[in-house]
Amino acid sequence: MPLETKRLRLRALTPDDLEHLVALHGDREVMTFITGAGEPREVVETQSLPALLRRRTWAIFHMATGGFLGWASLRIQGDEAELGYRLVRAAWGQGYASEAVRAVVGLGFGELGLARIWGQTMAVNSGSRRVMEKAGMAYLRTFHLEWDDPLPGAEHGEVAYALTRADWRAG
Ligand SMILES: CC(C)(COP(=O)(O)OP(=O)(O)OC[C@H]1O[C@@H](n2cnc3c(N)ncnc32)[C@H](O)[C@@H]1OP(=O)(O)O)[C@@H](O)C(=O)NCCC(=O)NCCS
Repeated sequence: MPLETKRLRLRALTPDDLEHLVALHGDREVMTFITGAGEPREVVETQSLPALLRRRTWAIFHMATGGFLGWASLRIQGDEAELGYRLVRAAWGQGYASEAVRAVVGLGFGELGLARIWGQTMAVNSGSRRVMEKAGMAYLRTFHLEWDDPLPGAEHGEVAYALTRADWRAG
């Protein structure tokens, strides 16, 4: 299951990645468009890590240094999957998310035989939207959810993107 790209090595996330996730999810800035607050260790241990282990999640490492950069995941339901990703702040702005996501999307349509991959993010999460666009995913729609305690920018709604296997092949 390890995947390699030009600069990255991706392997299956394991329970031993707890400390990586505690640092990543504990960073409030990383969580700006997700929950708006850093996740306490206990939440990572009892909720986030188990949830990621139930999906197909890859831990992403920098090939040259071996440093942990984040994770990318596919939540598979039938022949479709929801894409997710989260990178440590120090890794932002260097094309790593796009590189990792392209590899995961390629594996999803290739080896895993998926028919469609989709994703969603806050409309104001420009970086996340761009990562999906760079993976070939097309904007589908904007929708609005009811939140008890909305994050700043929630008034602009959420956006959904998707890519079919046929369009991936054609691209
Ligand atoms: C969103 C995130 C994954 C982007 O990771 P990244 O490695 O910086 O992304 P890349 O370097 O591959 O950049 C992809 C594109 O997005 C653009 N981009 C990245 N961050 C951006 C930002 N904050 N605002 C605007 N554009 C941004 C880049 O310029 C690049 O586009 P370009 O090639 O046309 O210049 C990363 O910031 C992150 O993990 N954020 C916190 C978690 C999160 O929000 N996850 C998504 C939840 S749905």
